[in-house]
Amino acid sequence: MDTQPVSNWTWWKHGVIYHIYPLSFKDSNDDGYGDIPGITGKLDYLSDLGIDAIWLSPIFKSPMVDWGYDVSDYRAIDPIFGSMKDFKRLLDESHKRGIRVIIDMIMNHTSDQHPWFVDSRSTIHHPKRDWYIWREAQKGKKPNNWKSVFGGSAWQFDERTGQYYLHTFLKEQPDLNWRNKQVKKAFMRHFKFWLDMGVDGFRLDAVNMIVKDKKFRNNPGLLVSLFQNKKWHTRNQPKSYKILRQLRELLDTYHERVSVGEIYTLPPGDSEMAGSYLDEGNNAIHMAFDFSLLFRQWNARKYHDAIVHWYNNIPPEGWPCNVLSNHDLGRSVKHFGSHKRNNRKARILAMLLLTLKGTPFIYYGEEIGMENAYIHRNEIRDKLGKKFWPIYQGRDKARTPMQWTGDTNAGFTSEKPWLPINRNFHTLNVEAENRDEGSLYNFYRKLIALRKQYAALQQGKWEALIKGENGVLAYAREIEKQRLIVLLNFTPSPKSISIESYNINKVLLSTHRPENAVVDVSDVKLFAYEASLLKELEFME
Ligand code: GLC
Repeated sequence: MDTQPVSNWTWWKHGVIYHIYPLSFKDSNDDGYGDIPGITGKLDYLSDLGIDAIWLSPIFKSPMVDWGYDVSDYRAIDPIFGSMKDFKRLLDESHKRGIRVIIDMIMNHTSDQHPWFVDSRSTIHHPKRDWYIWREAQKGKKPNNWKSVFGGSAWQFDERTGQYYLHTFLKEQPDLNWRNKQVKKAFMRHFKFWLDMGVDGFRLDAVNMIVKDKKFRNNPGLLVSLFQNKKWHTRNQPKSYKILRQLRELLDTYHERVSVGEIYTLPPGDSEMAGSYLDEGNNAIHMAFDFSLLFRQWNARKYHDAIVHWYNNIPPEGWPCNVLSNHDLGRSVKHFGSHKRNNRKARILAMLLLTLKGTPFIYYGEEIGMENAYIHRNEIRDKLGKKFWPIYQGRDKARTPMQWTGDTNAGFTSEKPWLPINRNFHTLNVEAENRDEGSLYNFYRKLIALRKQYAALQQGKWEALIKGENGVLAYAREIEKQRLIVLLNFTPSPKSISIESYNINKVLLSTHRPENAVVDVSDVKLFAYEASLLKELEFME
């Protein structure tokens, strides 16, 4: 990866991005669902936290079978979230505060209620038939062995025309046929519509899945599929890259707009695959999620190896982004193993996220240490949870309402919230953490401010100093005359470490040491679960 300061230094490279799940952020009209005016009302909170952009999970019109990831109109706001006027106001108010707005674009599929699909399924001869993927049965059986990510076959038989349609996700989410030029054209117009309105970028949903094998060949067996992403006939087809390059061309005709792709892989993530979408020279997307950090076990060595592997897979002009939690895969605090407030592991993760090279994505509530919640069977809203309970309880656990206060419904709504609030909200909430100088929330704020202040944290090269030995991860971020060191003790016991040639440092932020304290890293004993950010003394202004 490039270790020099990047030349095209735009906001999304130095910014911190905050992911909002709109249904759960703030309810402004007391119907139990979060909405757009709710988000607008909390912009000052976000501005105070110091973030540079928000990414909103989908807000388009939707039957909500997959809570917005099933779109029935790409140019309308679902009434559950408010109106287009509300969205424009959010955009305006965000921009006034220097906060950019990224929206979620779902290219792989639409809702089965989308007029395109309604037309497509009406008769075999409809011009929109080919906008989706329809196949005949093969000897009375399903067209091939392709599986839905959400379980079972990816083929759904449609009585009306006697053919099967493909759905990589739920059967209510039919896959579009991106080999049809009309589909591409229609989507480019959607993108343009939002770009012209002033949206700053797009998170591209499941973007490595949009094109499928032309010959509809069977996917390899499960074992090969698990370890060989490249052999899947339903993902990462050359044509997906081609389409994304065309999207990139469109984005490049606007000023500083960004694309970040969800590169869908199974645990433990696939850095190589994510990196393949980042070839700047080839005009691909700007950033891609690699979920390797998110899937890590609590082990310094494993984190080290995942980070190195990720960086090694980023092409010379590519730019990494880092993420620890999201609305599908759960909250990072699953690592904690205890429900202790302000758990020390949360601070290690916070420091990691905000001092690594690459744009950090914070999932709403991560800054106060929100935890995965237990959802009773009769309160499950995620279709996956309903389908697979009790083996898998679904994704609701990481989508519970933001915990603003210790009052009724955590200050999220005055009515019954759409998902239960995590029971820990009485003590774990924004209001309480704001007041407490030593809270996780204030730790995040300070880290974000430091990331803004120090070019080394934004653009500096990343170099491992202790590679996880003995449960300690230490690394340097360096640019020109600025050298910062991060020390992370992943273990519950003190550790003596020695880093040569970085002698005397002062503390910028630490879980255990006062600010400005002097630390000689050639011989220092780390506290249990210490996370410290230091700056080399001789280079201090
Ligand atoms: C992505 C989204 C997920 C959604 C799926 C289908 O993986 O993150 O929430 O269910 O795509 O759109």
